[in-house]
Amino acid sequence: MYYTTPVSIKGAVYKHSGEIHVKVIIAYMSLSSNTKKIAEAIYQEIQEEKEIKELHEIDDFEGYDLAFVGFPMHGFGVPEEAQRFLEKHCKGKKIALFVTHGAPEHSGDLQPWLAKCKEAAVKANVIDMFNCQGELAQFVSDELLKSENPLFRAYGEAGPSTKGQPDAARVERAHIFAREIMA
Ligand SMILES: Cc1cc2nc3c(=O)[nH]c(=O)nc-3n(C[C@H](O)[C@H](O)[C@H](O)COP(=O)(O)O)c2cc1C
Repeated sequence: MYYTTPVSIKGAVYKHSGEIHVKVIIAYMSLSSNTKKIAEAIYQEIQEEKEIKELHEIDDFEGYDLAFVGFPMHGFGVPEEAQRFLEKHCKGKKIALFVTHGAPEHSGDLQPWLAKCKEAAVKANVIDMFNCQGELAQFVSDELLKSENPLFRAYGEAGPSTKGQPDAARVERAHIFAREIMA
């Protein structure tokens, strides 16, 4: 699990401006709703002025004190759409990342992939990062099972074990993640 010490956003804003008003956006992409489920859990925890939008709906990303930016892991790293979004909109911004992936959290493969996700946001001020397993869509398992690469086939065979993710415990972790950042 990639989960660093959270930084209190309200504390940071208070110290900076002497006000407690905070405006937050939850910006995400999600093909099969796993990352959307986590985005919604985060959204529910925010007590401040807030918006939730898919990445493709966002043109203007100004005026927020904090953005939670989420996407699924694709190809051992960041999907192109999310990469473009991070480059175009997140430079110098305070962001908290959230990522879902088919691999289980304890997988040894995961850490370098998560490191790539964080690197993709290197120009932003990343205050924390959440990650959890999401269900592997059937079409992804089917494609992986056809691969000549035994490693990819093994990922495909693990598809059924991801069913129902992110489960209630993982969604609850997302609630805690958001609460701790906003505390
Ligand atoms: C094109 C594609 C590539 C993927 N590559 C990876 C990967 O490299 N590692 C991984 O753990 N999961 C991978 N997955 C699985 C997704 O990251 C996982 O199912 C995620 O929870 C999907 O989230 P979503 O429903 O929000 O799109 C991939 C899925 C797709 C569709």
